[in-house]
Amino acid sequence: AQSIPSLKDTFKNDFGIGTALNNGQIEERDPAMTQLIVSQFNMATPENVMKSALIHPKWDTYDFVVPDKLVAFGKKHNIKINGHTLVWHSQLPSFIRGVHSKDSIQTFFNDHIKTVAGRYKDNIFSWDVVNEALNEDGTLRKTVFLDYLGEGYIAEAFRLTQQAAPNVELYYNDYNNEQPAKRAGCIELIKKVQASGARIDGVGIQGHWHVGKVPFKDIEESILQYAALGLKVMFTELDIEVLPRNFQGADVNQRMASNPSLNPYTAGLPDDVQKQLAADYEALFKLFLKHKDKVTRVTLWGVNDANSWLNGWPVRGRTNYPLLFDRNNQPKPAFYSVVALKK
Ligand code: G3I
Repeated sequence: AQSIPSLKDTFKNDFGIGTALNNGQIEERDPAMTQLIVSQFNMATPENVMKSALIHPKWDTYDFVVPDKLVAFGKKHNIKINGHTLVWHSQLPSFIRGVHSKDSIQTFFNDHIKTVAGRYKDNIFSWDVVNEALNEDGTLRKTVFLDYLGEGYIAEAFRLTQQAAPNVELYYNDYNNEQPAKRAGCIELIKKVQASGARIDGVGIQGHWHVGKVPFKDIEESILQYAALGLKVMFTELDIEVLPRNFQGADVNQRMASNPSLNPYTAGLPDDVQKQLAADYEALFKLFLKHKDKVTRVTLWGVNDANSWLNGWPVRGRTNYPLLFDRNNQPKPAFYSVVALKK
């Protein structure tokens, strides 16, 4: 493991290199995994443990056990933590389903931001304040927050977070917001936050892409347009899926069991796909380097292929290969193609 180059060292003069962390990694249950994380990454985002369902399970109860460990992990290993996420329509606490008044939603919203952002005000680097508020056409997604609080909830979330944690960077985060229509909506959203007087420091483009179909032109356009608003641009959940997406309908699990072509690479990734994956990662990092004055962080959504959420989405049990390290923590050709850009 000593001879593996380090991503964080390779790009130390360019941008931060992050990963998503889950409970086992935060609790350092596997020494080889810990070693890989601390040698490769200088930034981290909790994959799930700071989402409201987990950190705020009951109306008046917060659970800070694992989030506190995450913050301690970051401090111990010199890894900056990006909090994820304060306002998101998904992974909400189940009690929210029984809340049906504007006042109660407003109380939840205010208390949640104040309590969670306030607790970590001195030991977290940044927050994904609002996550995935947009539809694909750039309009605002229908969520419990939009329904009860109106569109002003977004600027209000930034204002409240800034108040609770004045020294923490504040971001808007979404997927497909490099696509023109959604990007236009995202720019409008950002301008409204700015016009409200609240601070917004950066925008996260999640970067859940598909092998051979990475939208490089849209990505570059997006870097330029978001940076023109005065924002830092980050790639916050990068992974490149290699499996087909032709999953629809309720019987997908059954169909996958009887149709191996829906999970084709159980025995390993074929050479041609491995090469295409490496070429896609290389071209992406080349683009990030070209705009390193604007791109401040690149975060992979998981450490190795075994950790990736894409093994379980849209159905469980697939064998995906979207990241830079394989299931044995070994660098893949994509890793070396990225590192070679700095040689
Ligand atoms: O905690 C339960 C556990 O108790 C249970 O035994 C297990 C089996 O079903 O499920 C566990 O919860 C799962 C959780 O991940 C933790 O593993 C949820 O079912 C599962 O839905 C959840 O998935 C997460 C997903 O967000 C939820 O929307 C993924 O890990 C996580 O990678 C994914 O991350 C999102 C970002 O937050 C936002 N952008 C998109 C990205 C990918 O979907």
